[in-house]
Amino acid sequence: MADGELTSVAIDLPAMRVSYEQGALYESDLATTWAQQLQRWLDDARRAGVAEPNAMVLATANPDGVPSSRTVLAKGLDERGVVFFTNYTSTKSHDLMSTRYASATFPWYDLHRQATVRGTVEKVSPDETAKYWASRPRGSQLGAWASPQSSVVPGRQALDSALANIQRRFADTDVVPVPPHWGGWRIRPELVEFWQGRADRMHDRLRFKLIGDTWQIERVAP
Ligand SMILES: Cc1cc2nc3c(=O)[nH]c(=O)nc-3n(C[C@H](O)[C@H](O)[C@H](O)COP(=O)(O)O)c2cc1C
Repeated sequence: MADGELTSVAIDLPAMRVSYEQGALYESDLATTWAQQLQRWLDDARRAGVAEPNAMVLATANPDGVPSSRTVLAKGLDERGVVFFTNYTSTKSHDLMSTRYASATFPWYDLHRQATVRGTVEKVSPDETAKYWASRPRGSQLGAWASPQSSVVPGRQALDSALANIQRRFADTDVVPVPPHWGGWRIRPELVEFWQGRADRMHDRLRFKLIGDTWQIERVAP
């Protein structure tokens, strides 16, 4: 067996290939603003039955430049930016607090599309967090209290007992408050790229780019 070879290879990765021929993206197709265009593609993904169309892969870096990425759910979108909610003591939040930059990609593979937003980040207002928090199921609210997200824990048991403690703590409370360590981040894009797969790997890539205070459209090679 050659160095690094897997003993049983069940999947032929080099042979996995999809031809992208579902559509095209021309300058004349774009909505007036990046937010309207992103809304349009999110809606296309929802109507096409894509699983979790608002899921985006969020990339951050720590102060040494070490990157990490994970999926989060976009829960807000307007001309100011894209909002997601998380634990403010997590790895991603530590990264965001120190670098103030993020990039997030919506991967809509079924539509041969992706969209990426990149820009500075800010915490959303406590009011905005409270409004979204109130819409979450009680179980998710209690989980957010119980989980020291991104911390190493001794085992599953520690998580289960943390949740049980929180359930007891709030047993007589109808309205679970927002934990102090939890809230939203807004990515305020400086660059938003819409990618549509095309035949022969000659994909369409159109970008809204903020120059000063005006958005410009540019096409980049695939
Ligand atoms: C589909 C999907 C959606 C997720 N949505 C969120 C989310 O909205 N917020 C969040 O904090 N974590 C979410 N997660 C979990 C994150 O991917 C990640 O494990 C967690 O936030 C810890 O990341 P960190 O340690 O890099 O900070 C989601 C995971 C998946 C697979």
